[in-house]
Amino acid sequence: MGDQAQSLRQLVGGKTEYSVSRSSDNINLQSGSLLGARVIAVTSGKGGVGKTNLTVNMAIALGMAGQRVLVLDADLGMANVDVILGSRSKKHLLNLLEDGVELEDVLMYGPYGVNYISGGSGIEKAADFTYEERQRLMQKLSRCGQLADIILIDTGAGLGKNVMDFILAADEVLLVTTPEPTALTDAYAVMKAYSMYATQQNLRLVVNRVYDEAESREVVAKLQQTSERFLNMPIDCLGYIFEDSAVMRSVRRQTPFLAAQPGSVAARCIQAMANSVLYGSRMKVKRGWKGFLRQIFDFSR
Ligand SMILES: Nc1ncnc2c1ncn2[C@@H]1O[C@H](COP(=O)(O)OP(=O)(O)OP(=O)(O)O)[C@@H](O)[C@H]1O
Ligand SMILES: [Mg+2]
Repeated sequence: MGDQAQSLRQLVGGKTEYSVSRSSDNINLQSGSLLGARVIAVTSGKGGVGKTNLTVNMAIALGMAGQRVLVLDADLGMANVDVILGSRSKKHLLNLLEDGVELEDVLMYGPYGVNYISGGSGIEKAADFTYEERQRLMQKLSRCGQLADIILIDTGAGLGKNVMDFILAADEVLLVTTPEPTALTDAYAVMKAYSMYATQQNLRLVVNRVYDEAESREVVAKLQQTSERFLNMPIDCLGYIFEDSAVMRSVRRQTPFLAAQPGSVAARCIQAMANSVLYGSRMKVKRGWKGFLRQIFDFSR
């Protein structure tokens, strides 16, 4: 798994290998991209907990903060980034395996300033790549590291090999969970696998669909205690996202909530988390009274 993780890290232009490929390929990098992009994988144990919404809306928030962001939809075959964006790409990541298809052909300059590479949908899930296929993907994708300051990778859920490869290859991992016991159990399974295989551990939790901050704190405390006790791995929390009907509405309209409802509590949570990603600030978003009333009386949920 280590070798695969290394080649994937090279594939998306991660920091460590960047300097290696720089000397061997003699690429003339401009200042500012010398370290390559910061690669952040968004993952979860249980499916449907909010990864794609977090990824896309975080990309918009980081873009608004002046970062060059690229989203790589790595939920191969079941990709949803374009669905959430209301966009459509003709070609996707796996098309790069074909002769004559280059990065320009798969790189989408999507709406709301989100640049992304689709993982394709309606195609069979990618089996493990062969060595030649990995080399080909790596060579064609290597320039992504220069095109972006931050690469956000939306992975599939669970412990599949492709998912593990991506999370082990990333500089940072955001593990999304909801407070449901099933989601927590599955999140713990990811933490366990990550603690076993990651050479440099850097995993933070995002608790989605909470009703108040206390609920998020409770979830984080549970996972932190279990992680420290059984995995000997300290974990941190990046933040939380309130249960908010704006999310479901925006998915239905195929317009990310950060663009459609920037004042919604979910959007404010994402903005606060983007600040945490960039400046390490602690997030503090309150639902507020209006939000509280909306939550209680909004029957469109
Ligand atoms: N904060 C939230 N408030 C209310 N509903 C939410 C919230 N976050 C997510 N949802 C609901 O959960 C659904 C699934 O979200 P999303 O597609 O982002 O999950 P996912 O983890 O990417 O799923 P998959 O594992 O299938 O890729 C959304 O369409 C929305 O209806
Ligand atoms: Mg998804």
